[in-house]
Amino acid sequence: MDIPYPMNSFKIFWNNADQTMSASKFLLDHLGDLKPKTAIVLGSGLIIDVDAIHCQFSASDIPGFIVPTVEGHKGQVTAGVFADHEILIMQGRVHYYEGVSSGDITFQVRLAHQLNIRNIIFLSAAGGIRRSLDRGSIMLVKDHICAHPLHATLRHASVYDGPWRERILSVCTNPLVSCGMYVWTLGPSYETPAEIIAFERRGGDAVGMSLVPEALEASALGMSVLAVAVITNPAAGLGDHCLSHEGVLHAAGHAQDHLAGLLTIALDQSSSSDSST
Ligand code: HPA
Repeated sequence: MDIPYPMNSFKIFWNNADQTMSASKFLLDHLGDLKPKTAIVLGSGLIIDVDAIHCQFSASDIPGFIVPTVEGHKGQVTAGVFADHEILIMQGRVHYYEGVSSGDITFQVRLAHQLNIRNIIFLSAAGGIRRSLDRGSIMLVKDHICAHPLHATLRHASVYDGPWRERILSVCTNPLVSCGMYVWTLGPSYETPAEIIAFERRGGDAVGMSLVPEALEASALGMSVLAVAVITNPAAGLGDHCLSHEGVLHAAGHAQDHLAGLLTIALDQSSSSDSST
């Protein structure tokens, strides 16, 4: 498959170009007249209720699709209409700690690109490092710090679409929405309190185990990237409770109302909003 990289970059080795082809052909056959402009990738326990479902598949029913294995990552693809925008939702992602390749982690991004989608929103559960980021807050990612070496296709200055983010922040009146620095960790274990202090000193506002590899790939493909960290817990050492995946899933479920409002604004403010539905 020939993927157009706009920058002078090196291509990482993908082991799944044929799988991307098969999955995109299958989805194009089912999308019919629906032309999603934006893809939304949902992380741990996060859900979006679309207004109208055009088609919906279990990831395992889509030929070639790399199926997520972690609990809370449903492995479901939905095309439909949300707040008057045609969108594609990929619910569930794969992580490095599942022992998969970089190509597998970024598969969904290349699939969206292959479907002619040029805006992509990544949603991820995260721990709050900045003290004002309470459980249920939403942080739009302005940049990231990788706590571990990350073999990415391309790194350049503006992975996240700043103008898109600023338009959202200028319209959004929800005091729980802010922007900040996301720290990416490999996982799957949560951090130690000492690591969180180190991240805080380096300027980190929230910490999570996903989103960055995919954001780098999307940006390398020339897509507009919005990354949204949903704060599900105070980071290690900052709260009263032990961190657990079950607790994160539970808290993610409670952020739904804020998320729906934010996504409506994000879609309205996306660069292709004038040509939606
Ligand atoms: N650390 C890393 N990833 C996370 C966290 C956390 O505290 N919460 C949700 N995902």
